[in-house]
Amino acid sequence: MPGERLELSRSCEHWILSPTRLPIPPSGQGFLYILKHVRYYSIISIYNQGVATARKKSLKSKAMAKIISFINQKGGVGKTTSSVNTASYLADMGKFVLLVDLDPQGNASSGLGIDPRRVENSLYSTMIGGGEVRDAIVGTNIDGFHVIPATADLAGANIELVDVENREFRLYDVLRTVRMDYDYIIIDSPPSLGVLTINGLVASDELIIPVQAEYYALEGLGQLLETIDLVQNNLQPNLSIMGAVITLYDRRNRLARQVVREMRQHFPGRVFDSVIPRSVRLAEAPSFGQSISMFDNLNKGAKAYKSLAKEIIALEQ
Ligand SMILES: Nc1ncnc2c1ncn2[C@@H]1O[C@H](COP(=O)(O)OP(=O)(O)OP(=O)(O)O)[C@@H](O)[C@H]1O
Ligand SMILES: [Mg+2]
Repeated sequence: MPGERLELSRSCEHWILSPTRLPIPPSGQGFLYILKHVRYYSIISIYNQGVATARKKSLKSKAMAKIISFINQKGGVGKTTSSVNTASYLADMGKFVLLVDLDPQGNASSGLGIDPRRVENSLYSTMIGGGEVRDAIVGTNIDGFHVIPATADLAGANIELVDVENREFRLYDVLRTVRMDYDYIIIDSPPSLGVLTINGLVASDELIIPVQAEYYALEGLGQLLETIDLVQNNLQPNLSIMGAVITLYDRRNRLARQVVREMRQHFPGRVFDSVIPRSVRLAEAPSFGQSISMFDNLNKGAKAYKSLAKEIIALEQ
């Protein structure tokens, strides 16, 4: 929230002014030691002042959030890994971001350290139970990055929404009320084309399709594109595909290189330049409840997600 950003700026300023971290020189090394460290602390102070100013500048814009779903009914292609890490880098770059966990598996929530057993108000309670959406939003360790967690009861949505009028618009209605609070709302979809995913499509402006660099990569894409077409024609005419992102890429694998080539040939201009490599660190980060930006910011997977977030922001300009 905007107020939250200012709080952080204030705490940075407090840290800059705080004398408590200045070093005590070891005996006999007085002057040179202090000279070295004063210079070091001046650099840190200038850096922190820069951070504080940048944070102040990045107050929430007046525009409504862009809502982006990561979608592919194929399981295990990197939807959750991509949603969590792209969202966290967007926040890292000064954007206000809400991640919506639309998958009853709750992987995005647990991957950010949210224990589903302790969640009182989840996406289920607001989408189906009619609860207040702001009660379901929780913060993360990253400034300006919030989550609506999923719990297992969301799996009942397919049945519970069967007879409900306008059931495809439940998520749209939920997100409409908080759209002005964020720059981006990122939705992590489940691996199916059921009512939850359709809710995600209807609530979205744009879609990103993670495609795993493997032999069966293009399998199922036709059915996905047909479903998107149906939603565009009947429920959400403004929905568009932002692009496909290649995931789990291993450049030593000839087949993977071929898949990337074919994707770029089939969908010219529709495949992000950023390619997400296979990286053990990306797979490890969720078990520590952290996004890759917190877990290992210099890792090759981290760099790829940072680059994807930059591409998404660049598309706005
Ligand atoms: N780039 C990567 N490098 C290594 N492991 C990855 C990478 N991306 C994802 N994984 C791992 O692959 C598995 C599937 O990834 P993820 O959960 O993101 O896929 P998904 O499409 O969300 O799956 P589901 O369809 O079940 O929701 C996870 O164990 C994840 O940690
Ligand atoms: Mg997932």
